[in-house]
Amino acid sequence: MGRWVDKFIGFVSLNKLYKKRMMTKIIVLPHESLCPNGLEFDAPVGETICDALLRNHIEIEHACEKSCACTTCHVIVREGIQSLDDAEEKEEDMLDMAWGLTPLSRLSCQAKVRSEPLVIEIPKYTINHARETH
Ligand code: FES
Repeated sequence: MGRWVDKFIGFVSLNKLYKKRMMTKIIVLPHESLCPNGLEFDAPVGETICDALLRNHIEIEHACEKSCACTTCHVIVREGIQSLDDAEEKEEDMLDMAWGLTPLSRLSCQAKVRSEPLVIEIPKYTINHARETH
């Protein structure tokens, strides 16, 4: 009985350690309305940047419900972009319509967190804002 319990405790500890290792730090730069003071948190590898932001109460727009059909979830990956999987063609096509596009732009609903820390900037506007105010 004692050996079974020891094995179980060992398994649980290893599992916790494994899960800890699979987390990545994300730093979000201050955004006037969504995150005025900036924020730093850990996100699990494999989670989309959009889901990680939402899970941490940063209400980034996601007008198409994360189906790569708008650009409202656009983010600029100031550090760590090289660790992300390359954008697929559909994401690239949509990005062309994003407000404030840069070479470091990604659609946060498509880009998944990998093992390197990320520094994320949320652009001041989305195409929705741009249509409303300009
Ligand atoms: S939520 Fe529409 S493209 Fe990401």
